[in-house]
Amino acid sequence: MERTRWYKDKVFYQIWPRSFKDGNGDGIGDLLGVYEKLDYLKELGVNGIWFSPIYPSPGADCGYDIADYMDIAPEFGGMEAFRAVLEGAHERGMKVLMDLVVNHTSDEHEWFQKSRQRIDPYTDYYIWRPAKPDGSLPNNWDSNFEGKAWTYDEVRGEYYLHLFAIKQPDLNMDNHLVREEVKKIMRFWLDMGVDGFREDVITYISKKEGLPDDHLFPIYKGMPNYNHGPHIHEYLAEFKADVWDHYDIFTVAEAPLVSPELALKYIAEEGGQIDSMIQFQCECADCLFTDYIPMPFSLVRMKKAFSDWQHKLRGKAWNVLYIENHDHPRIISRYGSEKFWKESGKTLAASYLFLQGTPFIYQGQEIGMLNWKPRSIEAYRDVQSIYNYHHWSPKLTEEQKLRKLWRSSRDSARTPVQWDNSPNAGFTDAETPWMDVNENYHEINVAQQLADPDSILNFYKKAIGLRKSLKSVRYGKYIEHFPLSPTLYCYTRELKCEKLLVLCSYSDKPQNLKVPKGYDLSKGSLVLQNYASPLPGILQPYECRVYLFK
Ligand code: NOJ
Repeated sequence: MERTRWYKDKVFYQIWPRSFKDGNGDGIGDLLGVYEKLDYLKELGVNGIWFSPIYPSPGADCGYDIADYMDIAPEFGGMEAFRAVLEGAHERGMKVLMDLVVNHTSDEHEWFQKSRQRIDPYTDYYIWRPAKPDGSLPNNWDSNFEGKAWTYDEVRGEYYLHLFAIKQPDLNMDNHLVREEVKKIMRFWLDMGVDGFREDVITYISKKEGLPDDHLFPIYKGMPNYNHGPHIHEYLAEFKADVWDHYDIFTVAEAPLVSPELALKYIAEEGGQIDSMIQFQCECADCLFTDYIPMPFSLVRMKKAFSDWQHKLRGKAWNVLYIENHDHPRIISRYGSEKFWKESGKTLAASYLFLQGTPFIYQGQEIGMLNWKPRSIEAYRDVQSIYNYHHWSPKLTEEQKLRKLWRSSRDSARTPVQWDNSPNAGFTDAETPWMDVNENYHEINVAQQLADPDSILNFYKKAIGLRKSLKSVRYGKYIEHFPLSPTLYCYTRELKCEKLLVLCSYSDKPQNLKVPKGYDLSKGSLVLQNYASPLPGILQPYECRVYLFK
């Protein structure tokens, strides 16, 4: 089928369902809640939704541990609620992406239950190994979340591999029967009318033969032996030929540790297997590989990541643009300033919404939600955060450990969306939500921002509207100016006579306004700004301006 590449004109919104909106009053976000908010999303201007997993799951990793791929979890409203949301989204011109999590399943999935009992054909659905002759683990790999990557199963009498939590055994993708199962799952959702997939850690599905020890990579030891593994392109090409090519869909691969050069092997429009890729470099301007190794924020690093991907994919492949998702703390708390909350929230939006690619906005980002700062580990729900807390050096004080979590935990961005200033931020009618709301909901909430023309939310609306109206944003050339400035991000997008100039300050002090050569501000129109009265020659703290030249 001829792919129309409709996704190049979309703006997606990521729903992390447990914390989006509770529609039935049980304290957990659900699809009834999503249905209620479809008009809100349409008003915001987004025209696509990516659902983090909504399948039946024991919830060891908030749904990324799937127990049944062809159903919707009862706590989210079941299949009937999903069909209503899908139809409601389509009626409003919104596409729907599902999360495809096939590197691993839940240990409660029927396949795993049968595999551990060696019931065929499931015996080799997972990666089982005996201990080494000296009784040690099959290899030295670490899991991403909970210590070593191997856990012994009493029933089978062998170890199974899990690159994530203990309850997330890795599938054996080298088994063609497993690949057939994956195809069945994909066809099931596509035949129902779903518009594509975000593919969870898809670059991990092919492990190096022999599962060798790793002596190179200190973080998540083993990664070079399973990320971008030997058969990865072959398996993806098989999925494409057998399934994706038969539908007009959008496929997005999540790819830790990928460079633009390597990405092209997956997503080049000529010869690639997937449409686009979620890279991690844009999330590493204040850390080394992971949020748990923090560093001071560097604007130059952020700009370099943005520009590299803009330049190297241009004309060859399509970018996914994002600054937040459910796996990283909130962006204003990281790259912006909680003190200049409103200004920096808008500057961050302008920094990425006019780049070439398909933008994704994570729930709550559009109102500038901030990191959560709970006073006790009991409040945390994320498996990785809880494991880390309990395994940090006993020399750290309680206060130090909590501060580390505020700065690094995924839960910092997973608190319920703050809809209004009623109890529990209007997220639920239940007395106790499944996860505490951020105490700042009286100041930061949707209702208040809908009513305030100067809010972050209304800035997002304007920016999305502007983006949609300008051809230069989809097609124009990207040029970065003053790349070495530690406090100014300045870029232009140029398409014939239409030119867009974006100026974003990342300083909490006023700075001189620098304008790229050939641009005369008096000849352009100021089409978006975050200060009512911009000063001549000066950018105020976290000021942003977007000028249009025709
Ligand atoms: C990446 C997902 O985004 C994350 O939330 C999840 O924990 C892991 N993959 C494992 O599925």
